[in-house]
Amino acid sequence: MKRFIHLTYFIFILFILNIPSIENVDRSNFKTCEQSSFCRRQRKYKPDISPYEIDLNSTKIIKNGHLRFLLLNTLKSHIKFKLEIFTLEHNSLRIKINELNPIRKRYEVKYSLVGELKLVNMNITKSDEKQIEVNFGERTKFLLNAKPFRLDLFTNDIFVMSVNSNNMFNFEYYRKKPESNKTATNNNNEDGMWEETFKNHHDSKPYGPSSIGVDVNFLNFENVYGIPEHADAFSLRSTHDSDPYRLFNVDVFEYDILNPMALYGSVPYMLAHNEHTTVGFFWLNSAEGWIDVNYNKLSLKNFFSTNTNFFATQSNTKNNEIPEVTTHWMFESGIFDGFFFMGPTPRDIFKQYTVITGSVPLPPLWAIAYHQCRWNYIDEDDVRNVLNGFEHHRIPLDVIWLDIEHTNGKRYFTWDISKFPNPEKLQDDIAIYRRKIITVSDPHIKKDDGYQIYNEAKTRGYFVKTKDGQDYEGSCWPGSSMWLEFFNPDIFKWYSQRYLFENYKGTTGNLFLWNDMNEPSVFNGPEITFPKDIVHYGGWEDREVHNLYGMLHHMSTFQGLLNRSNGHIRPFILTRSFFAGSQRTAAIWTGDNSAQWSHLKITIPMLLSLSITGFGFSGADVGGFFNNPDPKLLVRWYQMAAYQPFYREHAHIDTARREPWLFGDDNTRLIRQAIEQRYSYLPYWYTLFYKQERQGIPPMLPLWANFPKDKKIFKSEDSFMIGNGLLVYPVIEADINQISVYFPGENTVWYDIQTYTQYNGSETVLINVDMESIPVYQLGGVIIPRRLRKRRSSMIALHDPITLVVALDRNYEAKGELYMDDGYTYDYRRKRELIYRRFTFKNNELRSTSLDTTAKFHTDAWIERIIILGYPENPSRVIINSGDKQATPLHNYQEASHTLIIRRPGPSVTSDWTLSIS
Ligand SMILES: *[C@@H]1O[C@H](CO)[C@@H](O)[C@H](O)[C@H]1NC(C)=O
Ligand SMILES: *[C@@H]1O[C@H](CO)[C@@H](O)[C@H](O)[C@H]1NC(C)=O
Ligand SMILES: *[C@@H]1O[C@H](CO)[C@@H](O)[C@H](O)[C@H]1NC(C)=O
Ligand SMILES: *[C@@H]1O[C@H](CO)[C@@H](O)[C@H](O)[C@H]1NC(C)=O
Ligand SMILES: *[C@@H]1O[C@H](CO)[C@@H](O)[C@H](O)[C@H]1NC(C)=O
Repeated sequence: MKRFIHLTYFIFILFILNIPSIENVDRSNFKTCEQSSFCRRQRKYKPDISPYEIDLNSTKIIKNGHLRFLLLNTLKSHIKFKLEIFTLEHNSLRIKINELNPIRKRYEVKYSLVGELKLVNMNITKSDEKQIEVNFGERTKFLLNAKPFRLDLFTNDIFVMSVNSNNMFNFEYYRKKPESNKTATNNNNEDGMWEETFKNHHDSKPYGPSSIGVDVNFLNFENVYGIPEHADAFSLRSTHDSDPYRLFNVDVFEYDILNPMALYGSVPYMLAHNEHTTVGFFWLNSAEGWIDVNYNKLSLKNFFSTNTNFFATQSNTKNNEIPEVTTHWMFESGIFDGFFFMGPTPRDIFKQYTVITGSVPLPPLWAIAYHQCRWNYIDEDDVRNVLNGFEHHRIPLDVIWLDIEHTNGKRYFTWDISKFPNPEKLQDDIAIYRRKIITVSDPHIKKDDGYQIYNEAKTRGYFVKTKDGQDYEGSCWPGSSMWLEFFNPDIFKWYSQRYLFENYKGTTGNLFLWNDMNEPSVFNGPEITFPKDIVHYGGWEDREVHNLYGMLHHMSTFQGLLNRSNGHIRPFILTRSFFAGSQRTAAIWTGDNSAQWSHLKITIPMLLSLSITGFGFSGADVGGFFNNPDPKLLVRWYQMAAYQPFYREHAHIDTARREPWLFGDDNTRLIRQAIEQRYSYLPYWYTLFYKQERQGIPPMLPLWANFPKDKKIFKSEDSFMIGNGLLVYPVIEADINQISVYFPGENTVWYDIQTYTQYNGSETVLINVDMESIPVYQLGGVIIPRRLRKRRSSMIALHDPITLVVALDRNYEAKGELYMDDGYTYDYRRKRELIYRRFTFKNNELRSTSLDTTAKFHTDAWIERIIILGYPENPSRVIINSGDKQATPLHNYQEASHTLIIRRPGPSVTSDWTLSIS
């Protein structure tokens, strides 16, 4: 959501905070690297030789799969570090480096990981006093060099990643503050080590410097991706002439695009892809982070002689130079906890990361349908009128949202009863079409003795504390507020119970949640958030855990919604702030974007970056949150977002109303068509979300995830794919009547989903577009299930018949899947109440078989139409066999487009059947 803007409130804020402008992001509210002392210190650390050495005499095999070493800083020999290496299942490696005996314990993040990580055996193939070489996994190995410390990683014998090869490993150990200079203000404060001030905010830094920097380098790669959240390119840009990419959860008002500034969430996970291999590096650290990215050529002449054989198999070693992406990672505190994912394929990488941090669980079906939101639908009549508008204009809708104004004075868990006198009745009424309501609930609690939540939390000592042990007070929507200390398990549990029906009055099972402002946003805090020296549960400073706060907030909400139904109903929560692992309990959106074409366009790289780092369920506010989109921009946004995972219209309180029918009949029709397209593909989307839960593959993908060898698409960010079947080239420019579409893959065939026109792979084609156009193409070789009947909501279409679109490849073959269940409970897990079908077209036969023989979901859904694209000729006969029944459905052949349509073939989606064409 938001930031200010009621004029009176704004003037008040302006007065107390001295905020100069609301027109655009006020960059001066946020630190640059130069203004963040640890970033400044780490960024300039560039010794010619690394002073860090491993004492290989100290090697300890803790167990097979787990080694431990001593790591020494030869310039400060009294400080010792321990380096641990774990070989993990699925070609993954974990390296931890911590001080051996720190004078203060260092923070280790646990919330991101799912359970115990499984070790696999390693084979030490070489070991002397200089290095050890270890094989693990499937043709993956590492080489640990002792003097200086350096780690090289290989996949299929190809050198892919290295750590500290540029000597930037630099670990600021905890130390005692120099005594004699304690009272001097600046004398003992070597480059901001012991305190720093930003604007008028003082950071007391009672524990002094604690940052860690390291270089991680990607050999033979020319593109790296990930490390959301930034409003920037998909293939990350060089930071040579800019600040590093920053990871620090903050509420950036009217964010700018194409820059490395931090936004609402952080995932310290980067991927690299080339035509041979995809690899990933994840540094599990919840402190403020900065990452430099540089693209270089590495000369092999000056390179480790022992390694040159690893390049022998590679083609691009001409001139003894190979491309390299050097990255420099800097975090303010914590430990080095690095995970290396060795691939080698994009699919392997998605699996490797989500085995460790968890995958997006299958959402309720309605959550992937269309959502209507605004700050604010002001009262019950307004909500009912909007719903009537959807009826009247025959536009499908599943969810209507209520922003902060629905509460009694921004007191979450309450209602403004003058506007919402009977919220339960409202929820019951919209349940007729199985629609849902979502209300917002933020982590700041209004300071008000008359507010029960505040009183109870205050009395029990549940608020976040300052460094002096007082309740921290700041300002947010309700004015003076306090923040709940979710790190304390008792408070986490207490908060989750606020969502139980008996505590959250006026709610029913049809109401779900939205957690906003949870970076957290503190209007008068440093960088609009908590001071770093705030002390959380366990004595940890905000400095150490900052980026986890939002995740704990929505995890607690999730627990509450789960418990509300005794674990029976799948929760839905949308969060603005997030961290690695948030994907397990919440969907996210890209926050306060703006109604501009540039913001429409940046949505694609932003969502792709999120998708490949675990966040397969994400979206951007349709139309842009701030400002008023012109009808053309709004229509184009609806068209694009119809093919993105989370599909919600949302707008700022100061914008004009923008329900889909307010822009004239033509635009209403165009928006209706876009939303109808979304609904028609829901069976496909839902199947993809199921696969994501099981395999970690996000539904929205960069083109290279499906065509890893096609070098032309490694930087693509004007297009994306949905699963392996749909290629989407949304129209993202204002006044164009042609777009250039590149069809990836060799020997592929693509079909326009509207006209069935065929296009060949590896070709670029100029496509004419008008306002009706949403250029989307189905890949030959893929079968996609659709529901073409028009309905009011996804849930009432649950048992509607299915149309199969069979797009044939050059060998006249295709395959696809269909997943179905009740759409909202966990019965698919507990009772196997699901259907998972495989469709295969081969040798003129289309077969339906079960991919899960234990599956048992009851549905009347049947196959009402089969559309075969690229069928070469008009067949004489079509026969369908299902059990012992045989039928000869009618068919129709369209010569011009080579399309064969089989009408009412009739089998149940749950049965095995074969369709034969002759
Ligand atoms: C390791 O052991 C070897 C042989 O015992 C010795 O020469 C060397 O100095 C030792 N290295 C360290 C760092 O202790
Ligand atoms: C380790 O060595 C054993 C015996 O040579 C071999 O069977 C096994 O495949 C090796 N494992 C790995 C991970 O290289
Ligand atoms: C006190 O600060 C001064 C100026 O930075 C420095 O030269 C001196 O070494 C410091 N003294 C101690 C005991 O650290
Ligand atoms: C949720 O319910 C489970 C089972 O009833 C209970 O053990 C757990 O404490 C509850 N959790 C919370 C956060 O209320
Ligand atoms: C696509 O490729 C096929 C086979 O090479 C060729 O026959 C056909 O004409 C091509 N179609 C187009 C539109 O270029």
